[in-house]
Amino acid sequence: MTTSTTDGTAKARPSVVLGVGGGIAAYKVCDLLRRLTESGHQVRVVPTAAALEFVGASTWAALSGQPVTPDPFDDVHEVPHVRIGKAAELVVVAPATANLIAKAAHGLADDLLTNTLLTARCPILFAAAMHTEMWEHPATQANVATLRERGITVLDPAVGRLTGSDTGRGRLPEPAEIFAISQLMLADEAARAAGHKIADLTGRHVLVSAGGTREHLDPVRYLGNSSSGKQGYALARIAAARGAKVTLVAANSELPDPAGVHVVPVTSTRDLFDEITARAADADAVVMAAAPADFRPSDVAEHKIKKTADGSVPAVNLVQNPDILATISHDRARTDQVIVGFAAETGDAEHSVIDLARAKLERKGCDLLVVNDVSGGKVFGSDMNEAVILDRDGGALPVPSGSKDALAGVIWNLVDARWQ
Ligand code: CTP
Repeated sequence: MTTSTTDGTAKARPSVVLGVGGGIAAYKVCDLLRRLTESGHQVRVVPTAAALEFVGASTWAALSGQPVTPDPFDDVHEVPHVRIGKAAELVVVAPATANLIAKAAHGLADDLLTNTLLTARCPILFAAAMHTEMWEHPATQANVATLRERGITVLDPAVGRLTGSDTGRGRLPEPAEIFAISQLMLADEAARAAGHKIADLTGRHVLVSAGGTREHLDPVRYLGNSSSGKQGYALARIAAARGAKVTLVAANSELPDPAGVHVVPVTSTRDLFDEITARAADADAVVMAAAPADFRPSDVAEHKIKKTADGSVPAVNLVQNPDILATISHDRARTDQVIVGFAAETGDAEHSVIDLARAKLERKGCDLLVVNDVSGGKVFGSDMNEAVILDRDGGALPVPSGSKDALAGVIWNLVDARWQ
């Protein structure tokens, strides 16, 4: 597959080296390989010898359409231990085992993959997977820190069921997540090559909220809204991919946990209020992408509310929920913190969307307000978003229609500019 350039010529999609480590999660990497090839990348799979214990060379060769060996002495006349790394435009290592991370951190080169890691000069992404104890061991943590200091993106393992019957941190992040981050890294690299500044968020802690809260009437019924959580998840994913420590407080979202993100699930606006206000003091930035319900029933029935024989219906009295964005903005835990709100507006007979949004930014007291025009049901649930980002100094940046990941990237660039 090719993409068009501005002068109309066709450009092949970047070529990727997919390094596969010796872990049980190697079988999931077949799905990642498919996603990469189907989106048009040439993929050279370089497994370790241990990886071939889990998935054989024929599978990798058939799926990639390229030769597969762990041995630098195969086809040695082509000098593969140098050529493969130098030609790569992105290297993805999955699963990145404790052993592979240790070898990479120490610069060892005893097989084709570790040689390739030393000769590659492109962005490198490690998706870690191993048993919890191995991940938490100080040796592994020190090796991961070394790789990150050198600019390598290391995705923490996800939490969930491990190889045996136990659960914990150690699972390979979902192939769809690894694929999404690989595409972001390539997009960032292309933007850097074109001279754009890409915010590096290493060393920052960011707190993001996402999803729509639910206010229960009884154990089975609630008042809610149709927020999908996609924009908040995109913000969390991209901040993590750019090196930030990310906490995502997620209200009722069905989306998979973004790789490397600490996810805190909540239900109601008051739960969200408690989690955000408790964590805000630790955060360099807080982004309120969630849609919290403004009202809740004044009473929650302990048991399911039943129909009555006479057909009378229960009255629902509502009380107002706290405004989280206004609270954290007005009682700022830190002066150097950047606070971002969202506003979904339709405008009315007297006021434009921007007039209402400007008044909201003042009222809430945040630094940036991402404004969506939702007249006609636009944006909700979509993978695309179009916005204007207002800042408290009077600026307004229109962001044309694009992916929610792309909008998230612009938001982090503006947050970073305010930190500077
Ligand atoms: N927000 C919040 N707490 C609430 C309601 C909203 O923190 N109880 C945040 C949202 O996460 C969003 C911003 O405030 O970042 C604006 O949300 P919106 O629903 O547009 O604001 P409201 O204050 O509810 O304004 P409106 O009167 O227009 O509904």
